[in-house]
Amino acid sequence: MVKETVKGHKRIERNVTLMAVATLVTVAIGGLVQITPLFYLDNTIEKVDGMRPYTPLEQAGRDIYIREGCYTCHSQMIRPFRDEVERYGAYSLAAESMFDHPFQWGSKRTGPDLARVGGRYSDEWHVQHLNDPQSVVPQSIMPKYRFLSETELHVADAGAMLSALRTVGVPYTDEDIAQAENDLIGQADPDTDLVDFEARYPKAQVRDYDGDPSRVTEMDALVAYLQMLGTLIDVNSAAAQQELAEETGR
Ligand code: HEC
Repeated sequence: MVKETVKGHKRIERNVTLMAVATLVTVAIGGLVQITPLFYLDNTIEKVDGMRPYTPLEQAGRDIYIREGCYTCHSQMIRPFRDEVERYGAYSLAAESMFDHPFQWGSKRTGPDLARVGGRYSDEWHVQHLNDPQSVVPQSIMPKYRFLSETELHVADAGAMLSALRTVGVPYTDEDIAQAENDLIGQADPDTDLVDFEARYPKAQVRDYDGDPSRVTEMDALVAYLQMLGTLIDVNSAAAQQELAEETGR
């Protein structure tokens, strides 16, 4: 029996064509097993209550986050390990980055993970920290971003920003796009009249973020984004708990 198998194998090893065909068949079976199920799934991300597209101000803050390279030092993905969960909070769900284009999971943590930083500090703390990190955390190596407070927020076309995201699958409505410009400024300027804003963006926080109510700056946008991170889903809800269990098989 052993002899027969060795003989069969010898034949394959000596015949390049046979070897190539046999390799192809083996790899094809492995590939099909992995790929075929994906054709029968509508979506590989389960819906979790509370996830919504970002408001124009949060989205603008997110663009500043990317522009300034915050992702080179900060991740936004809490892994399902005890040390991470104890430090940062419930681990990240796939649904929490479903509206991220591109996602910000990151691959390096020079600074802490930011996936659940929203609400952990006051706006004043963030402004102070971004202006001068060492004034809050003396040993910090984070650069200063003082110019953000001095730079008026400029988004060329907030409606176009949302439509572009809609083409890649973020479910902004026509009204969101029509109101984009007003929403962008209004979320950081309490004097603006917003139309159905909180109904369209549940849990959105409307206030002046940078301590200067007279104008809307890049600091307003970035802090609005940071204060939203990790606050949209209720990690203690039944649906979230179920997804947590399914993702880890526990
Ligand atoms: C050179 C690496 C580096 C870059 C770039 C960087 N950071 Fe940091 N960041 C750190 C370090 C280190 C800390 C921890 C010390 C401290 O709090 O300053 C930190 C802390 C933070 C914290 C506090 C997190 C917590 O849970 O305590 C926030 C918020 C933050 N950074 C936001 C940002 C944003 C927004 C940007 C981009 C505008 C940015 N960082 C760019 C290194 C960096």
